[in-house]
Amino acid sequence: MTALTVLPSGKTYEATAGSTLLQALLAVGEVIASKCDGQAKCGACHVFIQEGRKGLSKIQKLENEKLDALVGVSSKSRLACQVVLGTEPATVELLSFV
Ligand code: FES
Repeated sequence: MTALTVLPSGKTYEATAGSTLLQALLAVGEVIASKCDGQAKCGACHVFIQEGRKGLSKIQKLENEKLDALVGVSSKSRLACQVVLGTEPATVELLSFV
């Protein structure tokens, strides 16, 4: 298990290491868009990782290509469906413009 803090609510949850960030967020009842069943195609699950990036899975080619096509991307951007949680605590910011 690992600690997952969600902004802007500031709530912290216990999340399962090895699950995707999208699965973890949906499991605790957070609202996050997902229109492609986690295939890195829709970009709707775009989030900012504010802390704990190093403990997460690395960006792969498919995710990188999709992020390149999105508006409002920063160095903290990830697609929640492509992020696999590790054992380090992480803080994720959900985006309101999705
Ligand atoms: S759910 Fe579509 S890109 Fe993540």
